[in-house]
Amino acid sequence: MDSHHNQGVLILDFGSQYTQLIARRIREQNIFSEILPSNTKIDTIRKLNPKALILSGGPSSVYSKSAPKHDESIFHLDIPILGICYGLHLLVQHYGGKIETSSIREYGFDKIKINKKSALYDDIPNSTKVWMSHADKVSVLPKNWEITAESSNGIVASLENNFEKRYATQFHPEVDHTVKGKEIILNFLFKIAKCIPTWTAENFISEKIDKIRQTVGKSGKVLTAVSGGVDSSIMAALLNKAIGDRAILVIIDQGLMRKNEAHDCVKSLKEHLGLDIQLFDESEVFLKRLKGVKNPEKKRKIIGEQFIRSFEKIAKMFGHIDYLAQGTLYTDVIESGGSGNIKTVQVIKSHHNVGGLPKDMELKLIEPLKELFKDEVRGIGKEMGIPSVLLNRHPFPGPGLAVRILGSITHERLIMLQEADEIFINILQEEGIYDEIWQAFSVLIPVKTVGVMGDNRTYENLIGLRAVTSLDGMTADWYRIQDKILSKISNKIVNSVHGINRVVYDITSKPPGTIEWE
Ligand code: XMP
Repeated sequence: MDSHHNQGVLILDFGSQYTQLIARRIREQNIFSEILPSNTKIDTIRKLNPKALILSGGPSSVYSKSAPKHDESIFHLDIPILGICYGLHLLVQHYGGKIETSSIREYGFDKIKINKKSALYDDIPNSTKVWMSHADKVSVLPKNWEITAESSNGIVASLENNFEKRYATQFHPEVDHTVKGKEIILNFLFKIAKCIPTWTAENFISEKIDKIRQTVGKSGKVLTAVSGGVDSSIMAALLNKAIGDRAILVIIDQGLMRKNEAHDCVKSLKEHLGLDIQLFDESEVFLKRLKGVKNPEKKRKIIGEQFIRSFEKIAKMFGHIDYLAQGTLYTDVIESGGSGNIKTVQVIKSHHNVGGLPKDMELKLIEPLKELFKDEVRGIGKEMGIPSVLLNRHPFPGPGLAVRILGSITHERLIMLQEADEIFINILQEEGIYDEIWQAFSVLIPVKTVGVMGDNRTYENLIGLRAVTSLDGMTADWYRIQDKILSKISNKIVNSVHGINRVVYDITSKPPGTIEWE
């Protein structure tokens, strides 16, 4: 167990779309926070020794048979508990109150009236705007609990039993729309739970270095998987710092990289970080296994598995190696439907380094960044002195262009996409907007359309362009590229990439879209 749990706040996830926001709000205060499934056993929670517990919102009714399960003894924990929305209903139900379906569904903004002094509302005006999203409401108050605020419809907006350190809000303090949401969470963390903000980049790095040394021992070696992206570069630097050249850095060219990427990556990590990386060309086996595969999840699973098989093969070249280190992030874990801690979440995509792993792996995994969101990883990298050219590179997924070539992957289609993508990214850089964009890439769509070039009819392929702004990849908005830049990109692609005669720009945010198309 990492010691940052000791000062941390655990969140039990009952399925709200806002659960990750709660974790983020807490981490922004330099307090560690982790999301666990709603049915996490009390023993697991006790072992983690948190300073407080938060019960998230969720779409169910507490009386429904399909409501997510939880361990009833969580309520015996001698630490402050905050229930949000569904979490409020659970607290009320446990302590003997009642919940009923309200005739008024409150969704969106509301102005609540704070009518009782509460530590949760310290320094907050008596009337404040909040974000509501619920159908159920408190109808009978549990014994010894007090209502602390009401909605404009007279519905209980928050209540508490201050003596037992139990607090509950019907609204969502974690969303930005709740004007004083941040302050309410801060009051809970600092005034009620007495958390100490020790979760800093500096502490994280030294703790991880100790942990890696402990795990690997004095003579153990670690095959360290680099992809050229931000996360694995930082992870490699961390391993190198912890165990020097016993961290053997390798990069696999799976044949699905952007143009020249594999060689550029080796060069840039040498130049900027002084790290020696060995490049292994495994493109043949990857492309062979992917031949004719169209289903995105199938592609992801094949790639995830083949990475491990290739790493196992490479590990044998270096004598005895027990460990494989990879730059898995919290996002990878969450979107893959969770592993270990989070299993309640629906699988959005099997990220290659989580959902695509074979069960019979020979190597044991070391994933020092597994608890972090992308922007937090960049913070760690900055603290480690990693130069901004590396830190500010757009994320690139492990399955590479396989998830950007919709349909079957062929050599010809790979080249087409690589060429188009190079033009797109180069223009973003030339125009000085690359750093404003969180991630940008091109997608080859398996559709042909008619065009005219010179006097000739063309019937060729379609390229989709995607550029998004985001903080951590969990949500995103499409980036507004200026018309003149868009048209420059489109003209150059159609004029110079053989086989492309049309370009479209993706204007979908996440949700409802995802960032990658597959
Ligand atoms: P989505 O498409 O799920 O992507 O909105 C969120 C972020 O994750 C990246 N991504 C991956 N990264 N392995 C990775 O290392 C994967 O399998 C994978 N799938 C998506 C994606 O590029 C975006 O930055």
